[in-house]
Amino acid sequence: AMISLRQLLDHAAEHQYGVPAFNVNNLEQIQAIMQAARKTDSPVILQASAGARKYAGEPFLRKMVEAAAEMYPEIPIVMHQDHGASPSMCMQAIRSGFTSVMMDGSLMEDAKTPASYDYNVGVTRRVVEMAHAVGVSVEGELGCLGSLESGMAGEEDGSGAEGVLSHDQLLTDPQQAVDFVSRTGVDALAIAIGTSHGAYKFSRKPTGDILAIDRIKEIHARIPKTHLVMHGSSSVPQEWLAVIRDFGGDIKETYGVPVEEIQEGIRHGVRKVNIDTDIRLAMTGAMRRAMGQDRSEFDPRKFLKEATAAARDVCIDRFQAFGTAGMA
Ligand code: G3H
Ligand code: 13P
Ligand code: ZN
Repeated sequence: AMISLRQLLDHAAEHQYGVPAFNVNNLEQIQAIMQAARKTDSPVILQASAGARKYAGEPFLRKMVEAAAEMYPEIPIVMHQDHGASPSMCMQAIRSGFTSVMMDGSLMEDAKTPASYDYNVGVTRRVVEMAHAVGVSVEGELGCLGSLESGMAGEEDGSGAEGVLSHDQLLTDPQQAVDFVSRTGVDALAIAIGTSHGAYKFSRKPTGDILAIDRIKEIHARIPKTHLVMHGSSSVPQEWLAVIRDFGGDIKETYGVPVEEIQEGIRHGVRKVNIDTDIRLAMTGAMRRAMGQDRSEFDPRKFLKEATAAARDVCIDRFQAFGTAGMA
């Protein structure tokens, strides 16, 4: 059944667990997540970016999620708009049945230019008014999250997030978080705590203290009823990087957020954990391997089946590690 993000994360807070929010673009990713959810008895957050809606088309996304709800009636499903760039984009998502939307007002509508605090408050508050009127939850974002889109770190030059985000002033300010939540009424808040989007987060192997745990604690203590969201939470599995490289891929040395760091974050108030890159890497590795191992095969279902199984296993691992398993 479809539920709102607020319903799910209130339960997660009460029972002290985190929920991975996996990005979905196609049939195989949705099937992988639902298979993992059934196997582990976990509630799910399926999230679609603007890019996902462009890729699949809004009717396909909507119908595929409907199909997931029909095939997995025992699994609570949140359908969430990831990184909504404007109030109108959020409204479109609400109209198409999403039960939760993110208004990312930390950036202007081009999803590149950093926005002013007042702009962020204004657009986010408008979305909350509209969404809450129809029972839809809202995630806002406050702080300077390293991302491909904003050009602050990562994917394009592979430079990683460290040089940029270790600076204290780029982390979310706890006092401003209090003001933001009281002025907008968001249900969940994405905070900048040292992560960045994409595969190129850290160029050296992390040795602990990747996340600004003290900052998470401080923010959580001041806005305990607002669920904290961590973007850029992929762990960038080295095993999948090795498979990709072994079968002809070319990916530079790179590291993600260790699962133990995410678990520490969950202990201190993180409830929604956004993951896209790990599924991309697992699916690509599995497809490269399948194609490399049977070069006469040309039925795409063979490759996609391997990709689905690889993504499913990543999801099972995260559901178990975050304490989501058994909570459906
Ligand atoms: O935050 C970004 C997500 O990984 C979605 O990426 O815009 O390429 O769909 P995308
Ligand atoms: P990753 O790129 O680390 O998977 O993060 C995804 C994300 O934050 C989507 O909003
Ligand atoms: Zn994100």
